[in-house]
Amino acid sequence: MSEPEQKPAKPKRRVRYGGTHPRRFEEKYKEHQPDKYGETVAKVLASGKTPAGMHRSIMVDEILATLEPKPGEIYLDATLGYGGHASAVLPRILPNGLLIGLDVDPLELPRTEERLRSSFPAENILIRRINFAGISKALAEKEIPGVHMILADLGVSSMQIDNPARGFTFKVDGPLDLRMNPERGQPASALLKQLTEERLAELLRQNADEPHAAALAQCIASSRTPIATTQQLASLIRGALKRLTPEEQTNAIRRTFQALRIAVNDEFGALDSLLAQIPACLLPGGRVAILTFHSGEDRRVKHSFKAGLESGVYSRISEEVVRPTAQEVGQNPRASSAKLRWAVRANAEMQR
Ligand SMILES: C[S@@+](CC[C@H](N)C(=O)[O-])C[C@H]1O[C@@H](n2cnc3c(N)ncnc32)[C@H](O)[C@@H]1O
Repeated sequence: MSEPEQKPAKPKRRVRYGGTHPRRFEEKYKEHQPDKYGETVAKVLASGKTPAGMHRSIMVDEILATLEPKPGEIYLDATLGYGGHASAVLPRILPNGLLIGLDVDPLELPRTEERLRSSFPAENILIRRINFAGISKALAEKEIPGVHMILADLGVSSMQIDNPARGFTFKVDGPLDLRMNPERGQPASALLKQLTEERLAELLRQNADEPHAAALAQCIASSRTPIATTQQLASLIRGALKRLTPEEQTNAIRRTFQALRIAVNDEFGALDSLLAQIPACLLPGGRVAILTFHSGEDRRVKHSFKAGLESGVYSRISEEVVRPTAQEVGQNPRASSAKLRWAVRANAEMQR
């Protein structure tokens, strides 16, 4: 008996939108397909915006100048994201070099891996979905004694921020999640249910230097309805800070989201752990560059590099923080708070 004839699958219909321009993340189907709609993507980039589903890498020239990649070297990208920095480093370490790319994001990492593998030879790429707190273990498992370069570009990618389903943005409503790895830990909505008013105020101060921590914690903790969505939290904050200007309220919302994001992803714990392991993961003369986006991160990097220089683990460190040019900030406002610090691993004989 012959097999019943299979009907050809119907092509997937794109999301419909009202008006002349797509506004919502999922409606921007052209921006999600840069290979097919290069012209649209170029127009969005030229307007100073980041196309949906894409990330514009920050301070690429400064990072290349710091890391000085050379053919045959091993580059560990601790925060692979869209793979933008990796794509700039990879051509410089070919033909025999190796990219080791780490990221915790189960949604974006497979897309980045596919993009990188379509442009560079498979033998030059090793991708691992792990937290960078496990950097030493990842190298030991592959019997790699050390690497020539490490980059950590901290925080979240534009793909994560712009996707309302992930709960990083308060501009559009979505579940109050804020996890870079939604398969682990608990969303911010669940964390809020557990925190006492005192603990929440402390978290807002410690993670975001929030000046209105007490008032916000009181308002959030006494909310009669559970806070499940991003805009519920945002309007609660506006209500608690009625006397402030809308701009000041927006800044408080931004800081509150930052504080919760740091907590649900244990960002300071992971960064401390990475900083402690970097010297053992770098080969003598190896270079590390770290991009930070707020004072809590920058303080940690600065102290760790300074302590490493004093103990002889590092031979040189950046004396001053390196900032993006005004031109870059003009083209990409998300670069405005970026700070870059670097360090060079001492040769064995230089260490005390
Ligand atoms: C700012 S993006 C990196 C963008 C990347 N440099 C580029 O040019 O495309 C930060 C990335 O780091 C990841 N990330 C943040 N903390 C992490 C951690 N502790 N371990 C591994 N990945 C992490 C996030 O999931 C995100 O994809």
